[in-house]
Amino acid sequence: MSKQDTETETGVVAAENLDRVEAPVTWRTYAMCVFASFGGIFFGYDSGYIGGVQGMDYFIKMISGPDADKLLPWQSSLIVSILSAGTFCGALIAGDLADYFGRRFTIILGSAVFIVGVALQTASAGLALLVVGRTVAGLGVGFVSAIIILYMSEIAPKKVRGAIVSGYQFCITIGLLLAACVSYGTENLDNSGSYRIPIGLQMLWALILGVGLMFLPESPRYFIKKGKVEEARKALGRVRGQDPNSHHIEAELNEIRANHEYEKRMTPETGYIGSWLLCFSGSVGLASSNVRKTLLGISLQMMQQWTGVNFVFYYSTIFLKGTGAVSDPFLMSLIFTLVNVLSTPLSFWLVERFGRRSMLLWGAIGMTVCEFIVAVIGVTVGFNHTHVVDEVTIANNISAVNAQIAFIAIYIFFFATTWGPGAWVLIGEIFPLSIRSRGVALSTASNWFWNFIIGYITPYLVGTEYANMQSSVFFLWGALCAVCIVYAYFLVPETKGLTLEQVDQMLDEVSPRKSAAWKPTTTFANMEEKQTTA
Ligand code: BGC
Repeated sequence: MSKQDTETETGVVAAENLDRVEAPVTWRTYAMCVFASFGGIFFGYDSGYIGGVQGMDYFIKMISGPDADKLLPWQSSLIVSILSAGTFCGALIAGDLADYFGRRFTIILGSAVFIVGVALQTASAGLALLVVGRTVAGLGVGFVSAIIILYMSEIAPKKVRGAIVSGYQFCITIGLLLAACVSYGTENLDNSGSYRIPIGLQMLWALILGVGLMFLPESPRYFIKKGKVEEARKALGRVRGQDPNSHHIEAELNEIRANHEYEKRMTPETGYIGSWLLCFSGSVGLASSNVRKTLLGISLQMMQQWTGVNFVFYYSTIFLKGTGAVSDPFLMSLIFTLVNVLSTPLSFWLVERFGRRSMLLWGAIGMTVCEFIVAVIGVTVGFNHTHVVDEVTIANNISAVNAQIAFIAIYIFFFATTWGPGAWVLIGEIFPLSIRSRGVALSTASNWFWNFIIGYITPYLVGTEYANMQSSVFFLWGALCAVCIVYAYFLVPETKGLTLEQVDQMLDEVSPRKSAAWKPTTTFANMEEKQTTA
């Protein structure tokens, strides 16, 4: 047997040992992660309530004047997209805060900032203060949405990490649903309660999250990054529900620490600007380079937005009104939101059974097919053949439009079970600790940036006085989803069942297409030991 064979075998044993010693997953661990995923509720709620509020008579008249029956496209664009502009900036700043003050503190701070933003929006009686309030609240959502992913990925045990981060997506969908229900309940009020109730209620989510997090431990990986090994040990003991001196904790801690030491050795000392530039270091051609991981995170979130999902969540009420086939568009968009909630739990199983890569690939295929069907029915017999009589749109073929609506619901099913959770799970996993907080922050900022762009351009794409694409807008989303298929096939790696440290190794050693078959052959602790004895 050659030296290399012996080394590899020792490595395999070391890697297997690490697997064996990983602490069993306890209810306590689940409970902590599930609580953290609560952050998704106000991400979802905050994006969700605005769709309903924009259709409210009282609100329209307050913003656009007593004779208006809908918001002007620029007003609608501004109100929807300004939140994402705030979140974009919030997510970017949050990465630094999380490295400096800790993950937990940043999330608590985000909740506080969010409460201030919501208070301003609730107090508003016109466009200006509403826009300021949405920007401030956006900053808070930016902090929370970026750092919750980081925190959850860092505390979750590897076996269930995908499922647990998908729980965050589930909470986003519940947030969207709650927002739709509350707006549905208040839409007919003829006073400021119609929009103030759905807006003001959000403070509750931030309070629950902020106060709850005060009782959860900080991420052990943050302490390791700060060189506080004993604090890391205690924190890991708490999240795993184990004695901090047990062999489970010792082995896991050793591996996190050895990986960090290894990365530090490989990473040059840099100043503040240099540490940002580190996210873009290396060569784009290498899967293991930082720049490649950063671009992967940024593009994953971009592609998630390109699927067009927020077209449905932000504008479906207005869109469905225009089809002339739906008597209660509010109720119909509520149904889309319900499909989103009910389908997401399937992803908890899919993500650990089939893995991230297959999930994104099949999800993109499913969404592409549905979107093209919606678009083709539209141009042949459906929505694009409606006509206007006395300013009211009438559908020529109600069953065709209904079929389109059904395929939009199936499309949502595919999104909710695949790209919705998948993009968040992956960005929590692909970055090494040295750039993790910034990498996740940049990727989350990309989500909000594209969210902003789509929120901004959609009224112009479908507005009757502008491009008036009607359901042909689904040709656009379908084409973008087709790009997602190619993207997932060539660029998305399989990270299922690996520790965050093993993901690092895997990206160093194989291309995304071969990643599903990769098995760890050594541990960082083992490599470090060899180095010291050499
Ligand atoms: C996306 C949001 C979207 C939501 C719908 C999230 O993963 O990032 O933009 O509104 O899913 O469930």
